[in-house]
Amino acid sequence: MMKNKRTNTPSGSRRSFLTWLIVAAAGLIGISLAVPLAGYVASPALKRRELRWVDAGPMDDLPVGEPTQRDLVMTITDGYMEVAAVKGIWALRLATNEVTVYSPICTHLGCGYRWDAGEKEFKCPCHGSVFDLNGKVVGGPAPRSLDRLPVKIENGHLLVQYKEFKSGTKQQIEI
Ligand code: FES
Repeated sequence: MMKNKRTNTPSGSRRSFLTWLIVAAAGLIGISLAVPLAGYVASPALKRRELRWVDAGPMDDLPVGEPTQRDLVMTITDGYMEVAAVKGIWALRLATNEVTVYSPICTHLGCGYRWDAGEKEFKCPCHGSVFDLNGKVVGGPAPRSLDRLPVKIENGHLLVQYKEFKSGTKQQIEI
């Protein structure tokens, strides 16, 4: 006569159910750890996009029709670090008392450019791009006009939002 032996080892479909349960539990633990971690990693990158109005000095001494370089002194959040930065934007006061502010970065490959008061043009020393008073390309390899920055005037001061754009593209792409 044969005795029916019972063991403690799960068999067949019971074993595969347990395996599935363990995998599902591990997956849930993984997700519950990954979501806050992703938020923690991504938040500095999102913070970097936060735009602030930076004081670019009084309006009074901005000459009409002559681009003037003004320093924007600000704090930039780069990943987890806060670094002080100075950006020399170009401000052009118009006869209407409005102000156009240009990014100081050449749209070709990102060099700094200067205003040539004699020839009334912005000139980039790197590859010879030339822009007129309105920021339009009039010479050289620059693919688009100078980038304009958001500006407002408050209590007699010029306030600017500093942004950066991709160099070398025909379309303006904010980075
Ligand atoms: S970076 Fe200005 S012309 Fe090339």
